[in-house]
Amino acid sequence: MNTELTERRRELFAATRRLQDAPAEPDHAELERVAAWCADQGLRRDVYGDGPDLEAFEQRVADLLGMQSARFMSSGTMAQQIATRIWSDRSGVTRIGMHPTCHMELHEHRGYRHLHGLDAVFVGRFDAPMTAADLEQVAESMSSLVIELPTRENGGRLAPWAELVELCSLARERGIALHLDGARLWEAAAGYERALDEIAGLFDSVYVSFYKGIGALPGSMLLGPTDFVAEATVWQRRHGGNLFHSTPNWASAAMRLDAQVERMPEYRRRATEVAAVLREIQGVQIVPDQPQVNMFHVLLAGKDDALKLARDRVAEEHDLWLFGGLQPTDVPGVQRFELTVGEAALLVPDGEIAAAFAALFSPDRA
Ligand SMILES: Cc1ncc(COP(=O)(O)O)c(C=O)c1O
Repeated sequence: MNTELTERRRELFAATRRLQDAPAEPDHAELERVAAWCADQGLRRDVYGDGPDLEAFEQRVADLLGMQSARFMSSGTMAQQIATRIWSDRSGVTRIGMHPTCHMELHEHRGYRHLHGLDAVFVGRFDAPMTAADLEQVAESMSSLVIELPTRENGGRLAPWAELVELCSLARERGIALHLDGARLWEAAAGYERALDEIAGLFDSVYVSFYKGIGALPGSMLLGPTDFVAEATVWQRRHGGNLFHSTPNWASAAMRLDAQVERMPEYRRRATEVAAVLREIQGVQIVPDQPQVNMFHVLLAGKDDALKLARDRVAEEHDLWLFGGLQPTDVPGVQRFELTVGEAALLVPDGEIAAAFAALFSPDRA
């Protein structure tokens, strides 16, 4: 793409209202909030992940999820490789079970294989959450099963609660450790209308993220039994992920967590409203039909370049940035993007969302 167009889009994006996530703000805004909060709390920094205030935060999250212990880590990518490695070491089985859309498979250059010598067996179908029936079809042994709630890549789907419980029971009967990819556990809890500890209680280990729905600086936590977390801490060091200190990152999470978790039902409610608005627009389709959490996929009829030019025009005329990147779908001439509903979508009235999307497909489209 030519640099002039890239630059113009960057400027347009910065100057336009958003639909995704939180409203735009200067990059330094969160750093300033965190600095003020740390000063107000008299927060003491950690040193290599040790320190009373970080440990108190880790225990707070462990208690919230009903897990024994927790360790703050800089990324979920590292946390989940570590979790699956530990379960494999303990069972002597190098194979891990995962959904075909698992982040570890699609977005991590298969670190589990290259760094840890593990293999994957895929359980379930791309377009649906994993079920007990899917696991029944896989006879191979596996050390752990990674279950993602919600399954992001197919539109943020959640298996019905009873099916999730059935899947976890079957895995337990087979002696498979259960690991939760809870990158969006806060969102899943709002989707299930269940407590965080009830959901986490189905699993042996859990990873949660703080920079997605919580909106904090990058960071994650790995939770599980105390001996598991102690072992994970050794692996964190081996991965080079035990930083001299990471105070801004965990402080940002600690500052935001409670308030953001409380906002999740509202985001989910708004996602349902936005989906209802979009469903009425010709050329737009929602996946899944009924959003189960505060995210879903929006399918747009048109070619990638043409849709992006139309998006730019809509941004100028309607002061609303509808999407960033587009991904192709199985249907030629249909693209998709993931819409995560947060604070930003609460500020844009339904009528304006409808008008902006309809304008994408207006005849004078660029
Ligand atoms: C479902 C899921 N799992 C794991 C991760 C990894 O998180 P991180 O970016 O902290 O490595 C992500 C990140 O997007 C994710 O969406």
